[in-house]
Amino acid sequence: MNHMRIAMIGTGYVGLVSGACFADFGHQVTCVDKDADKIAALNAGQIPIFEPDLDRLVEANVRSGQLRFTTLLADAVSHADVVFIAVGTPSRRGDGHADISFVYAAAREIAAALRGFTLVVTKSTVPVGTADEIERLIRETNPGADFSVGSNPEFLREGAAIYDFKHPDRIVIGTENERARSLLADVYRPLSLNLGPLMFTTRRTAELIKYAANAFLATKITFINEIADLAEKVGADIQDVAHGIGMDKRIGSKFLHAGPGFGGSCFPKDTRALLKTALDHDSPMRIVEAVLTVNENRKRAMARKVGAMLDNNVHGKKIGVLGLTFKPDTDDMREAPSIALITGLLDQGAIVQAYDPAGMEQARKELPDITYCRDPYACARGVDVLVIVTEWAEFRALDLHRIRREMARPAIVDLRNIYRPSEMLALGFRYEGVGRPMPRKARERAALETLCN
Ligand code: UDX
Repeated sequence: MNHMRIAMIGTGYVGLVSGACFADFGHQVTCVDKDADKIAALNAGQIPIFEPDLDRLVEANVRSGQLRFTTLLADAVSHADVVFIAVGTPSRRGDGHADISFVYAAAREIAAALRGFTLVVTKSTVPVGTADEIERLIRETNPGADFSVGSNPEFLREGAAIYDFKHPDRIVIGTENERARSLLADVYRPLSLNLGPLMFTTRRTAELIKYAANAFLATKITFINEIADLAEKVGADIQDVAHGIGMDKRIGSKFLHAGPGFGGSCFPKDTRALLKTALDHDSPMRIVEAVLTVNENRKRAMARKVGAMLDNNVHGKKIGVLGLTFKPDTDDMREAPSIALITGLLDQGAIVQAYDPAGMEQARKELPDITYCRDPYACARGVDVLVIVTEWAEFRALDLHRIRREMARPAIVDLRNIYRPSEMLALGFRYEGVGRPMPRKARERAALETLCN
């Protein structure tokens, strides 16, 4: 295998994970970021994000000399065979389009520093046509440069990022240039040797694959969430419905967990950006449009679901929230369903206390008006209802007798269906999941109320 010299521009989530994994493949990787504090911290061995095993991977590869961090873009680029652009592409204020100004700024800086043939590759999620524009910008900035531009979108999930990077279902490479193809094949050689999941296509196709994949997954989640609402009304069990349809290989069992709606740094932003692209090209996407609206409404509707458990008497009630991050194994709060839920409850006059294993520091910025607890039991103390919002492993193994003793009233709303209704009822809780029937609900509830009075 040829060891590549790689410059990774942007040391955020995707950049840091990809950079560390490429270094682990044996390449020589320089991660670049404008944020001098972040680079100083990384050089001192501190990892700015919460991601399982990332600290060990970074440390091992820094020690072996495969991985380094710098603010000096020009230096890293001039020595690189391949330059990846992994800077952020947040939602632009106002129109929901991806803000690609950071990508273009990076492209201009890269252009000025190119030495010898260099492949420039977008790893950030960028709208269709961005690679063409980068090519134009580089040519304009540095007409003599010898380069090619490719697209290589990243599909890793937060919380499982290293595993996903090293075990991808596919690696999508968009380039029409033979030299670029063979360079990227070398970059990914350690992965393609195993299973050969490399897929070559055009740049625009690669760019669209990324958006289509995320929009499809977001649709799948939203679809099962709406079926869950119907299941509640008709007395069917969404877990069994998901299982029953998921066994059909054409459908597949993944991403069929009903819950409080999707959040995170990708699905909301990327579906919005895809809609904008569709609009610009006069190619309406009604399904994706509906997915976004339904999902936004759903997050807020979760506050009503909790309210229903309190007989719509939320004012002055104490509510415990377990889990704040948009999913487990991350500290990421971006577009987390917990934000809409808690804000909705506060608007109705509730007093909210919460616990999250990793997200509380981030959460304080979004939710300053709630109390943060030291553990799940403190979070259950004195509450009228406990709401499970994120399915962290530690919430699956709670001492439920202790939880019940801590609570003022034993009522649980489980927005991730991590517990079985029958078990919870047997333990003496009023319990409400998502999309699951409560055949004995009325009976149990009456029995409990007699018990509590
Ligand atoms: C996602 C994509 O999975 C990844 O391929 C892409 O590159 C970036 O966006 P990520 O945002 O890290 O990754 O998380 P993911 O595990 O996909 O979950 C996204 C959201 O959907 C979470 O809020 C999660 O709770 C929710 N979800 C997921 C469900 O509600 N039900 C499911 O069945 C799956």
